[in-house]
Amino acid sequence: MSGGRLLNKVAVITGGASGIGFATAKRFLAEGALVTIGDFNAEAGKAALAQLAADGFGERVNFIRGDVSQEADVERLMATALDRFGGLDIVFNNAGIGGAIGPIVETDVEHWDVTFAVLMRGVFLGVKHAARIMMHRGGGSIINTASIGGVAGGVLPTAYSAAKAAVVSFSRNAATELAEYRIRVNAICPGIIFTPLMHNGRETQAEAVVADIQPWPDRGEPHHVASAVLYLASDDSAFVTGEAHAVDGGYLANGLLRVHPLPGAKKKADYAGITYGNTGQIRDVRRLP
Ligand SMILES: NC(=O)c1ccc[n+]([C@@H]2O[C@H](COP(=O)([O-])OP(=O)(O)OC[C@H]3O[C@@H](n4cnc5c(N)ncnc54)[C@H](O)[C@@H]3O)[C@@H](O)[C@H]2O)c1
Repeated sequence: MSGGRLLNKVAVITGGASGIGFATAKRFLAEGALVTIGDFNAEAGKAALAQLAADGFGERVNFIRGDVSQEADVERLMATALDRFGGLDIVFNNAGIGGAIGPIVETDVEHWDVTFAVLMRGVFLGVKHAARIMMHRGGGSIINTASIGGVAGGVLPTAYSAAKAAVVSFSRNAATELAEYRIRVNAICPGIIFTPLMHNGRETQAEAVVADIQPWPDRGEPHHVASAVLYLASDDSAFVTGEAHAVDGGYLANGLLRVHPLPGAKKKADYAGITYGNTGQIRDVRRLP
């Protein structure tokens, strides 16, 4: 490894076995980082490791199966990166699921709580256990995945959007609290990014929606977000903290004047329940009368 913007920096990426997290792992490795991927889905984690090893990064990456909503798992994830690679400089709290779907009046409390446990508690735990290490090591950079759904209403499921809004607020507060330790905390707000979580196998329908509402003509890909995360992780953003950075092809700038359902969704939902994204867990969805 001769150079790179993250040369020998130690990074943890949650949800790193798929989509945005995996693209970021590839980008970080290409920039010289040492990467520990955490993910709920053990099979996807193994496949991700195999691909990264085939790309020549086998010695510089490892995978830990864990659930970001469980404190012991998050603590173990950070400790493993520290033990294996001798430091902790960058943490990307990115794991996510779609979570509770359907009308508010039909939403089960347990589904609401699971959504917040993964999307918000997971970020809190990631920051808590990253900061505990970084504050004794002279600082670091933490990036939390929010969403355009966290800064605008009417587009994405309610529980998901509320949890992502909490991620933006939490990131700003964490940034002010941790600045004295030289720990930067920023949120990233992806727009419509073509991952399995977003299109759920319906890429063509998703492309039609994007063409209608997103100003930029190209579709959002995981590598677009990875480039922005690289900027926030690296010293190029040394004076940037507490920021919520949109990567959305102008979607927010468009004003969200029209409420548009995502592919497969109807304007008035005729189902309710919870989806678990790409964790391997089976969705629990019921039709409404
Ligand atoms: N794709 C989009 O359009 C989009 C837009 C805005 C925000 N986001 C956010 O970006 C992040 C990454 O999503 P993606 O689109 O790459 O989806 P993805 O499904 O491709 O990847 C998410 C990964 O997170 C893992 N994960 C889920 N729950 C977990 C848990 N409890 N513990 C550990 N790992 C867990 C999954 O197994 C999966 O590998 C999520 O936070 C998502 O909400 C995505």
